[in-house]
Amino acid sequence: MNLKGRDFLKLLDFTPEEIQYLLDLAADLKDKKKNHIAHDYCKGMNVALIFEKTSTRTRCSFEVAAHDLGMGSTYLNPKDSQIGKKETIADTARVLSGMFEGIEYRGYGQDIVDELAKYADVPVWNGLTNEFHPTQILADFLTIREHFGKLKGINFVYMGDARYNMGNSLMVGCAKMGLNFTACAPEEYFPDAALVAECKEIASQSGGSIRLCTDPMEATKGADVIYTDVWVSMGEPVEVWQERIDALGPYEVNQKLMDNAADGCVFMHCLPAYHDLGTEVGKEMGERFGRDHMEVTNDVFESPASIVFQEAENRMHTIKAVMAATLADLD
Ligand code: CP
Ligand code: NVA
Repeated sequence: MNLKGRDFLKLLDFTPEEIQYLLDLAADLKDKKKNHIAHDYCKGMNVALIFEKTSTRTRCSFEVAAHDLGMGSTYLNPKDSQIGKKETIADTARVLSGMFEGIEYRGYGQDIVDELAKYADVPVWNGLTNEFHPTQILADFLTIREHFGKLKGINFVYMGDARYNMGNSLMVGCAKMGLNFTACAPEEYFPDAALVAECKEIASQSGGSIRLCTDPMEATKGADVIYTDVWVSMGEPVEVWQERIDALGPYEVNQKLMDNAADGCVFMHCLPAYHDLGTEVGKEMGERFGRDHMEVTNDVFESPASIVFQEAENRMHTIKAVMAATLADLD
């Protein structure tokens, strides 16, 4: 397997064998890190990290992983750089290609990261767009594999806003790797019909399945993993909270759903999560709408079934695998 020079823009561009290879590499790099074994496979290289939206996990993962691989990293945001205001993506791509060995981009439309990759002559990695969040799915799958020892045949249920980056990417990932994917939401929050059709076709090759369901109890029966994400994503206007709470309130993850699932079912979330009133937005929205949580109750979030922090740590190991595989000579 050789992924050197490849972009990492969305999972649809990768075969199940390539995804498997990235997960195996991430597991190996995690093991090396835990055992203090050096793995500076990209010594002397540098990466540019463009963040047009905020981040804790993804930014820290890229920075720590770059450091562990022996690389320098430069963080760029729209406030402190020329990107978007005075310089196009195409020009930025060509400027950064002359100074860096790889470029990460987090921002709005998938077309922007695609454009960056078109004009850059170094690998470009998608750190989240409105449509896809592929590095998150690698972390999620490494976590599921660590927990259950396998991916194939896992009953994976995604609750909530399934038409955005997380719902789309998890559906693609499950289709590729042979999991049974269920999106549970009101119909208007189902993923795009064309993407659903494409994933059904992929799943028919991998032994996985794709199901769309509006009933939370029916969806979660027999679930091994119940996953959710925020109801209002970065870049969406604050005005949509009311309609999201009305539409998605019945799709919150609570103990009743966890009890309805298979024995040993785990709870996962890409984070950040609104599980209590401990954040500025959580408090403001909670008070406005009379709720002490949004997409997941605090008891589920804090329960032993919740593996969200293991999942968050795995962001770093999997992002490191993506950078090492696309930049280094690993053989
Ligand atoms: N899950 C995730 O992408 O987290 P950040 O927004 O903190 O990077
Ligand atoms: N759907 C969320 C994911 C955050 C990791 C967002 O785009 O804000």
